[in-house]
Amino acid sequence: MTDQTQTWIEKDKKQLHPTYHPKSHANPLVIERGEGVWLHLTDGRKILDGMAGLWNVNAGYGREEIAKAAYDQMKELAFTSNFSGMTNLPSIQLADKLAGFAYKGLNTTLFTSGGSESNDSAFKTARYYWKRKGKPGKYKVIARKGAYHGVTLSTTFATGLEKYHTMFGPAPEGFVHIPAPNPYRYEGKLKDGETVGQAAARELEEAILREGADTVAAFIAEPVMGVGGVVVPPDDYFPLIRKICDKYEVLFIADEVITGFGRTGEWFALKHWNVKPDILSFAKAITSGYAPLGGIQISDEIRESMESAADTEAYMHGFTYSGHAMACAVGLKNLEIMEREEFPKRARELGKRLLDGLKKLEEFSFVGDVRGLGLVCGVEIVSDRNTKAADLATTMKIFKAAEAHGLRSRPLGNTLAFSPPLSITEDEVDEIVKRLGAAMDGVG
Ligand SMILES: Cc1ncc(COP(=O)(O)O)c(C=O)c1O
Repeated sequence: MTDQTQTWIEKDKKQLHPTYHPKSHANPLVIERGEGVWLHLTDGRKILDGMAGLWNVNAGYGREEIAKAAYDQMKELAFTSNFSGMTNLPSIQLADKLAGFAYKGLNTTLFTSGGSESNDSAFKTARYYWKRKGKPGKYKVIARKGAYHGVTLSTTFATGLEKYHTMFGPAPEGFVHIPAPNPYRYEGKLKDGETVGQAAARELEEAILREGADTVAAFIAEPVMGVGGVVVPPDDYFPLIRKICDKYEVLFIADEVITGFGRTGEWFALKHWNVKPDILSFAKAITSGYAPLGGIQISDEIRESMESAADTEAYMHGFTYSGHAMACAVGLKNLEIMEREEFPKRARELGKRLLDGLKKLEEFSFVGDVRGLGLVCGVEIVSDRNTKAADLATTMKIFKAAEAHGLRSRPLGNTLAFSPPLSITEDEVDEIVKRLGAAMDGVG
């Protein structure tokens, strides 16, 4: 390591990092520049970013067009309040572009600055809606074990991963978790003849009945679970979920913070199963990470509940940076690029190439499962294929070895995740497989 890099690392101690522990941050990669799928470090190393940052830099690094859009908008108007009574041109244009873009009937957008704010807004909007419908008792949220929905107080406890709760309890009331439809290791009970999709959907119905349908506001799910280990649901799951939500008047919130904007091979992932949510949460790839921006889209029915509200029932919610002019201009330019370069098609084609390549690594005995949808894949590491016992130590060894081979993945429990920029080339996909294979060779 160069002296200069060591100096940066010393100075870096003055900031707290997300999910911080001094041990896990002892020797961070100090990144100076990005180009396409490549990260350049201050110590001269070059790393293939197999995670597109945090599943978000879909357009890849170093896009001048986007930088110019930000510059032009900042010169013109970087920010103005978007609170009731004011608006700005980029937020008007982006909301217009997004109307019906993800799902028909979701035509209204509230902008936020990221995914946690989006999901928090989704919960508050669900509560708002049920109060407007004369059902104020409906406030609970049902989520899945293993889900990740963010780090505000509400989204922390909607998240179904214990380690995010431990230091921040007590939990606010009203967040309930059910098993996720994980085909490789389903945690719930399977009745005779039931598929994993049917069993996991039944868990939702049972939870609604247990809690009382008149207390449940919403169900939230990531179409493909990300942080929980890249879990791709069976095909029968979401159509059943939609039916159950309709039957018991429970709003369906799709957390597409990772899966939105082409990542899985469709613009939005529930399209794979021909299902539509009532509220959509998005963030991350709306700007490919070039500016912090997120949002929710609400159904026309929820919108109508606002149109007809009394003065005392205003939607008293929104952020300073809701509809930030520069961020929205960046979002518009990024969307233009994603459409021009046909990102969903790229994700389908290159995702198949990546998955096929990763599946070849099943020759290593510690690879328990390889799965993916579009350009989001997971490789699960086990100590024994029969018992499927998670092997965290080997997962970390492979992760570190891959980094030494110039490949960045992300260890999520005993799963290594891959979610590269959608601008990745065929050769670069092959590089991921080659470098991961070399890393496994060294470990195995
Ligand atoms: C599915 C999902 N929802 C919500 C979030 C939270 O987004 P943010 O970190 O922008 O608040 C994330 C972040 O990774 C996520 O993966």
